[in-house]
Amino acid sequence: MSVLVLIIVPVMCHRLRPLRPQVNQNQGRNIVIFYGSQTGTAEDFATRLAKEASLYGMKAMVADPDRCHMDELSQLYKIENSLAIFCVSTYWEGDPTDNAMAFYNWLQSGKTSVRGLRYAVFGLGNSTYEYFNKMGKYLDLRLEELGGTRVHKLGLGDTAHNIDNYFMTWKDNLWTSVAKQFNLKTLTNFSSRQFRLIQHKEIPREGVFTGEVLTLNSLVDQKPPFNQKNPFLAPILVNRELYKGLRSCLHIELDLMGSQLSYEAGDYVAVYQKNDKHLVQRIGQLLATDLDQVISLENLDEDSFKRHPFPCPTSYRDALLFYTDISSAPKPHVLRELSEYTDNEEHKKFLECISSSTEEGKQVYNEWIVEKLRNIVDVLEDMPSVKPRLDHLLEILPRLLPRFYTICSSSKVYPNSVHLTAVVVKKSTGRVNKGVATNLLASKQCEQSGDKVSVPIFIRRSQFRLPVNPSTPVIMIGPGTGLAPFRGFLQERWYHMQNQTPIGPTVLYFGCRNQSDDYLYEEELRGYVMDNTLTKLYTAFSRDGSDKVYVTHLLRQHMPEIWRLIGPLNGHVYVSGYASTMAREVKDILVDTFVAEGNQSPEEAHNYLKTMESQRRYLRNHSNWLTVSIVNDGEEGRSVIRLCPPARAQYARNAQNNGRS
Ligand SMILES: Cc1cc2nc3c(=O)[nH]c(=O)nc-3n(C[C@H](O)[C@H](O)[C@H](O)COP(=O)(O)OP(=O)(O)OC[C@H]3O[C@@H](n4cnc5c(N)ncnc54)[C@H](O)[C@@H]3O)c2cc1C
Ligand SMILES: Cc1cc2nc3c(=O)[nH]c(=O)nc-3n(C[C@H](O)[C@H](O)[C@H](O)COP(=O)(O)O)c2cc1C
Repeated sequence: MSVLVLIIVPVMCHRLRPLRPQVNQNQGRNIVIFYGSQTGTAEDFATRLAKEASLYGMKAMVADPDRCHMDELSQLYKIENSLAIFCVSTYWEGDPTDNAMAFYNWLQSGKTSVRGLRYAVFGLGNSTYEYFNKMGKYLDLRLEELGGTRVHKLGLGDTAHNIDNYFMTWKDNLWTSVAKQFNLKTLTNFSSRQFRLIQHKEIPREGVFTGEVLTLNSLVDQKPPFNQKNPFLAPILVNRELYKGLRSCLHIELDLMGSQLSYEAGDYVAVYQKNDKHLVQRIGQLLATDLDQVISLENLDEDSFKRHPFPCPTSYRDALLFYTDISSAPKPHVLRELSEYTDNEEHKKFLECISSSTEEGKQVYNEWIVEKLRNIVDVLEDMPSVKPRLDHLLEILPRLLPRFYTICSSSKVYPNSVHLTAVVVKKSTGRVNKGVATNLLASKQCEQSGDKVSVPIFIRRSQFRLPVNPSTPVIMIGPGTGLAPFRGFLQERWYHMQNQTPIGPTVLYFGCRNQSDDYLYEEELRGYVMDNTLTKLYTAFSRDGSDKVYVTHLLRQHMPEIWRLIGPLNGHVYVSGYASTMAREVKDILVDTFVAEGNQSPEEAHNYLKTMESQRRYLRNHSNWLTVSIVNDGEEGRSVIRLCPPARAQYARNAQNNGRS
């Protein structure tokens, strides 16, 4: 085997780490698992596959395509028994993730051949989206077109139906087929640990991570540029309740002063989280571990990209508070690992059953974990014989991720603050399960003991944008919190009007359950009708009358007007809200409108909509986030209104500056 062959993997990845002279360290490494991931699921699957590869005596490495020379992929076949596995997610309108974008462009350029490459693809997507798993499907076919050999059929994971089930079934079959094709045997002395524990005895406080994403003390000593790896601590200016009924929806304004952060209406703000300290404390008690012990988890594989699972050194407490997801449903593979930590045969068997990929296992998992909303703390409490090592638990639980919120302000009107609308998530099935981010936000005042209260944030750009020319007509369809981006759009149209720039017809469709309870920003919307920012405001309240009325009913009634704005006047259409039902219905209505009012054939109407889409005249901001934001009409009283005095003053100043009363 040539030196070139032995060093192929580090060469592919040399952007991250210079090529090492000791190539023998990579000897035997024959699987590369690439992930295209935005929020970590695909990366987590890739890591799990890498661990399992060692069960068959294979040595795998997990790789971020954005940090590798992907053109070296064509050389991989030279390594004996080599295999490239891809776990790739699809986003937005069927797009690749940010870290897979360059790889996608390279594949599309068609300037390459991967002849001889053995590969397998697992796609991650959500079937409520029109372009379900587009990236996975594309990659699987494209690699074949470029000369690669598929060793196992494409897996199509679906987050709408417990994606872990899809993944477990796919990977079990993958290993069976790889073992057969590569003539591999399972090893018996297999260690499932990827990281080793180091307990620090004496370590200065300033050398210990306490919630930073990448750089020590970066949350205390704040230095721009601020981004995902270096979030800005944004003071909360306003935190007030928008709903009047039992449910809760927050309007939050965050101060951007001094951050150099900029945004456009329609972008997203991401907020970093902190778990409930009581849950953290409970884990410490259940596992009889001193949570203040400072630790590091170090990768056993020295060549791995990932030295630690989260920033280290840190204390057990902060690892649980800031870096580990302890409140969602524990994944089956976590439960499988827990089964190794009990002498109670009944508990062991049960954990083995619910973590298996059998039909029975999946069903019991669904009943006992998902439907009963059990998190890891509940599992440990309900099975007192199960006592995992805390460092192992930290290794296998997923990372706590920032939560995204659609910005509901315009930087033209609010250059120094960013606003968001967040539905507070609380689910109850006997046990109450609270969403981490929204309940933390709900508990935050603007000031505590005279100090400003801040949250770590970064801004993420979106493609959901108003037309460049303000005189272009816009139709906005945004029921519920789908209204969020349109509040920003309306502020922007209003700003243009104040600056004597003519704005085109502006039509908004908004819907909610009851006018009295959850009509978001009612006064503001009425204000926009009064000052002609809004040409038309159509509302649908689904639970106010005997008949359920939704925005889609109104759209059907207004087909002639909709066509006039879209066809003759070249208007733009924006849809924001739940993907599976409303957005699909809107699409059908638009096609019907083009047929009925634009005299098009159904085929022409579909093509017309496609053209609008490619011209960015038909934009959707739907994501599956409303599916996780369904709140039980619980017994708890509604939150108090918290409009903080400094924020109120700033709002008044802003309004005054902008000539708005
Ligand atoms: C691009 C984008 C834009 C978004 N914009 C907005 C917006 O403008 N406004 C908005 O309100 N949200 C928005 N979201 C959603 C938002 O990011 C969060 O997902 C949402 O606020 C919930 O976060 P949380 O931390 O409060 O809940 P989480 O802690 O993430 O909990 C989510 C759900 O999982 C449930 N759960 C926990 N454990 C289990 C279990 N064992 N079994 C079953 N279920 C369980 C919880 O009960 C809860 O319902 C957006 C998301 C994206 C991706
Ligand atoms: C904003 C957003 C847009 C999405 N767009 C699509 C899509 O167009 N097609 C699809 O199949 N899945 C889509 N999904 C689902 C994701 O692919 C799925 O949640 C996946 O598990 C995310 O993986 P990651 O955590 O590795 O980023 C979308 C999810 C979000 C949050």
